[in-house]
Amino acid sequence: MSRPGGRADAVKEGACVGPTMTEVSAGPLARIPEGGCVLVEHGPWLLAVWKIGGAPHAADAVCPHRGGPLHEGTLEGAVVTCPLHAFRFDVRTGRNPFNPGSRIAVFPARVTPDGEVLVDVPA
Ligand code: FES
Repeated sequence: MSRPGGRADAVKEGACVGPTMTEVSAGPLARIPEGGCVLVEHGPWLLAVWKIGGAPHAADAVCPHRGGPLHEGTLEGAVVTCPLHAFRFDVRTGRNPFNPGSRIAVFPARVTPDGEVLVDVPA
């Protein structure tokens, strides 16, 4: 069961636009290898924060197909391939490049002056 403004609504919209957002730390940007990611857990969300071109990009780490671990997928450019059945998603937009009806939620991420990654997620 989902709650209004929660995970299901965010996935439907392709991005989190819930009424109440909070910033969650993903730790130092320097700790994320280029092309790699870290996992962040917050409430019902399991987020993967990838570093692409030196910038953080946060998205749902759970594949909408059958719950595969997208953080364990292969990243090519900005497109991650799910390790279970090879669905692909652009982690910057959440869109599946081959199926516009399939997407993952994405979240705004920023780097503080002291190098910490903060991600906006529904509270
Ligand atoms: S669980 Fe991700 S493609 Fe099937």
